[in-house]
Amino acid sequence: MSEKMLQALNEQMNFELYSGYIYLQMASYADVEDYDGFANWLIHQAHEEYEHAMKFRTFILDMGGEPEWKAMEKPKAKYESLLEIFKAAYDHEVEVSSRIHKLVDLSREEDCKRSLSFLQWFVDEQLEEEVSTQEIVTKLERVQNSVQGLYMLNAQLNQRG
Ligand SMILES: [Fe+2]
Ligand SMILES: [Fe+2]
Repeated sequence: MSEKMLQALNEQMNFELYSGYIYLQMASYADVEDYDGFANWLIHQAHEEYEHAMKFRTFILDMGGEPEWKAMEKPKAKYESLLEIFKAAYDHEVEVSSRIHKLVDLSREEDCKRSLSFLQWFVDEQLEEEVSTQEIVTKLERVQNSVQGLYMLNAQLNQRG
């Protein structure tokens, strides 16, 4: 595997962990506002991102590379609403998808069948991530500021576990 490919995979490994960091910060808002179900969902999301980073780590090691953890940017900390958070989460997942697709393009250019196969799981996963965050945005837009609606959604998101 080329050094270029390994570095691109390493960058994505770091970006997956950073994604989790963003979700952890979003969970703080939900917890402070007493939306424990939304916080639960976001914490689970952060765990998933950690698992994604670990998948990249294992693959890099399997391919003879040495995973390198980099400094992370401070995630945005000020949010005004759950809707703002989930819109940002959706936008973030779209950004992740585009990064995964670029990795797929690079694998093709490098004719690297192993990374192509490895990345396929992430291509599918990203579609799910976009769908699930967009679904929550739609529901939040529907309930708007109805306390009843927000609490029903909160109870629903508390079931993720
Ligand atoms: Fe991810
Ligand atoms: Fe994600």
